[in-house]
Amino acid sequence: MDKRKNKVGKIFKAPRGTQDYLPEKATLLYRLDQLAAEKFEKAGYRRIVTPTFEETGLFQRSIGESSDIVRKEMYTFEDRKGRSLTLRPEATAPVVRAYIERNLQAEIQPVKLYYMGPMYRYERPQAGRYREFWQLGIEAIGSSAALIDAEVIVILMQYLDELGLKEITLYLGSMGDDNCRVDYAGQLKGYLESRLDSFCEDCNERIRFNPLRVFDCKKEPCKQQLKEAPKLIDHLCNECSEHFENIKRLLKVAGVDFVIDPTLVRGFDYYTRTTFEVKSPLLGSQDALGGGGRYDRLVEQYGGPDSPAIGFALGIERLILALEKEGVKTKVENEIGLFIVAIDESTQEAAFKLLIELRNIGFSVEMDYLSRSLRAQMKLADKYGARYVIIIGPDELKRDEARIKDMQTSSEKNIDMSETASYLLKKK
Ligand code: HAM
Repeated sequence: MDKRKNKVGKIFKAPRGTQDYLPEKATLLYRLDQLAAEKFEKAGYRRIVTPTFEETGLFQRSIGESSDIVRKEMYTFEDRKGRSLTLRPEATAPVVRAYIERNLQAEIQPVKLYYMGPMYRYERPQAGRYREFWQLGIEAIGSSAALIDAEVIVILMQYLDELGLKEITLYLGSMGDDNCRVDYAGQLKGYLESRLDSFCEDCNERIRFNPLRVFDCKKEPCKQQLKEAPKLIDHLCNECSEHFENIKRLLKVAGVDFVIDPTLVRGFDYYTRTTFEVKSPLLGSQDALGGGGRYDRLVEQYGGPDSPAIGFALGIERLILALEKEGVKTKVENEIGLFIVAIDESTQEAAFKLLIELRNIGFSVEMDYLSRSLRAQMKLADKYGARYVIIIGPDELKRDEARIKDMQTSSEKNIDMSETASYLLKKK
């Protein structure tokens, strides 16, 4: 009988669709965050952290009642006082909520923010699709200028470029605004209703509630039917069309390549005008690494001032997958530089004192915590990849010395204990 099973009654497993970020991957996760922080902050973006759960209504209204997320993917629960709360499926709505609630409109506009954190969607797990996943994102709130659209997209593409991704494509589209979209939606609905039988059940529902959503459908027969459908991009009003042209011009100025995708509608109700997605052909069916767009009405819709905005979010799991598929080195090296060997218990205190001293001046230092033999400690030092091993035995201690072994050359040298730090600093 399995003893572990016996003690707690069962073996616990991480919930379906979640994963443990074990040390190596967890380190990579935060390195990606660090690199983003450096890049984004240079462009004037500041970090924001919002709660992982919010009032359910916040997402219902912003993402849209007819979206897949609201219809079937939200982790919604009641707390002990009967309030309906939802684990955030995305961070745009929470950031907008914070912008209004914390009066960020009083700051210099546009307010430029970035975030990284876990999001939650009750989706069917598969490669690149999780129920808890991490997003790294940017939101720039308070400007309608095409300049800021271009800036946000350039930052995204430069970040991916710096990570070493090559096989990615930026797709660009426009959803128009209230002016052009309403007319267009009517035309599209007419087209779709004339061939309802050719569309899947889900699409039939979409046609009833929000015809533009049919472009989200991944089923081949539906996609075929949509080839001839009228496209929003051909029905933009003058202002939206001009905005779109300006972005294209600015992206060219910045040297960012893109492909126009007339069907890029994305799965949220809040988008207006610009939409974009970055895809990798190496990711299979979950090929979108990241996406975003403008949401010019959202702040106002929540009772804030007229504050047009734009942003994006990158899926970290898919980003890591794409890096791996492209063979970009993601392994984070073990950084232990020094290993202190205490030959027996009588030297442990001196070894510990030296360990603390060396760490205090910036060395990465390890020692043994299991009273291993000298041989086993040397093996361990080798496993850690330590460059130098500092050996303290009873004889060395008597003479107030430490023996330093260079693991590359195997040469050894005795040094006064008090001079160990300065000796190693010189070698650094
Ligand atoms: P989204 O397209 O829903 O946009 O998500 C952005 C990225 O998150 C996706 O491209 C994908 O890489 C990742 N992602 C989404 N769902 C999952 C999942 N179940 N498992 C793993 N990764 C996933 C947004 O969330 C918008 N808030 C982006 C935005 C910001 N728009 C304006 N500002």
